[in-house]
Amino acid sequence: MVNDQAMLEVSHLATAFDIEAGRVRAVDDVSFQVHRGKTLGIVGESGCGKSVTALSIMRLLPRPAGKILDGRILYRGTDIVKMTPETMRTIRGRHISMIFQEPMTALNPVHRIGRQIGEVFQLHDATRDETRIRDKSVEMLAKVGIPDPERRIREYSHQISGGMRQRVMIAMALAVRPDILIADEPTTALDVTIQAQILDLMKQLQQENGMAMIFITHDLGVIADICDDVVVMYAGTVVESAPVRELFENPRHPYTRGLLESIPRLETPRKISLPIIRGMVPTLDNLPPGCRFQNRCPIAIPICESVPPGLTPVGNRHEARCYLA
Ligand SMILES: Nc1ncnc2c1ncn2[C@@H]1O[C@H](COP(=O)(O)OP(=O)(O)O)[C@@H](O)[C@H]1O
Ligand SMILES: [Mg+2]
Repeated sequence: MVNDQAMLEVSHLATAFDIEAGRVRAVDDVSFQVHRGKTLGIVGESGCGKSVTALSIMRLLPRPAGKILDGRILYRGTDIVKMTPETMRTIRGRHISMIFQEPMTALNPVHRIGRQIGEVFQLHDATRDETRIRDKSVEMLAKVGIPDPERRIREYSHQISGGMRQRVMIAMALAVRPDILIADEPTTALDVTIQAQILDLMKQLQQENGMAMIFITHDLGVIADICDDVVVMYAGTVVESAPVRELFENPRHPYTRGLLESIPRLETPRKISLPIIRGMVPTLDNLPPGCRFQNRCPIAIPICESVPPGLTPVGNRHEARCYLA
């Protein structure tokens, strides 16, 4: 069935950085699919490879250190890994857009906000009608909760607050009306009201345009709220993936279970510290043989210390990288 083709299919992606100390595999055997109109959540602790996965898809890894070593990234069936830089520019300008974790990387300091967002509309709508471009820019900035957008379009990125920059970048990413939106911790710097408003706006665009979304966050509450499917990452690899309800109701990997137990509950008094997973994430240049989670795992058995477990089916569209799942 043609409709079954994923908008984006990442399979066995491996991405590394060549640094003085040697080659560090920041992403290792990461696979997932994103379908039209659906949202995939990627969750995991800081440093587990979420942003590197996103930057690999965009082909925006820091150069020359970062490179894709292995795997495929199919956009509507065509491999992004093999695309020319020119084709990639078109993909980024029209088809796949990204909201970066650090907004300054996406904004140009020498152009006014209005010109930057205006360029997106100009390219997308192939118009030079300045009034129309200006109106659309103002409208989009208002939609992402920027007060007094008529004034803001005349300012530069360094003149506005971090939260405001984040919203400008979100407005630019959405103005593209992309097939795929990759949002890397997009609402972390924003207060809860604005955060809710932006999530609603994304959902609305998703319904209108069938936009597929990859939503990266460490907030399981947001995952539960907006995602259809979830991928849990740990130390550069996928440890579990499932439809969102299945993951919350029936987590099979001990890491996922630990994450879910650490969600604050209403009945937990604020001052009491929440149960967190004991131990530390291994560094990528010093991964243990066997399972990467073994040193923190409450249920590890001898084989976990020597043979790395593969990602295996444990249910309908549900996979886990654990011998005991
Ligand atoms: N520019 C870089 N140079 C070298 N190593 C990097 C670079 N960026 C990321 N890494 C490595 O990749 C790992 C994953 O980073 P990242 O994807 O940013 O994590 P996160 O899940 O917090 O987004 C880091 O722990 C680090 O070891
Ligand atoms: Mg990150």
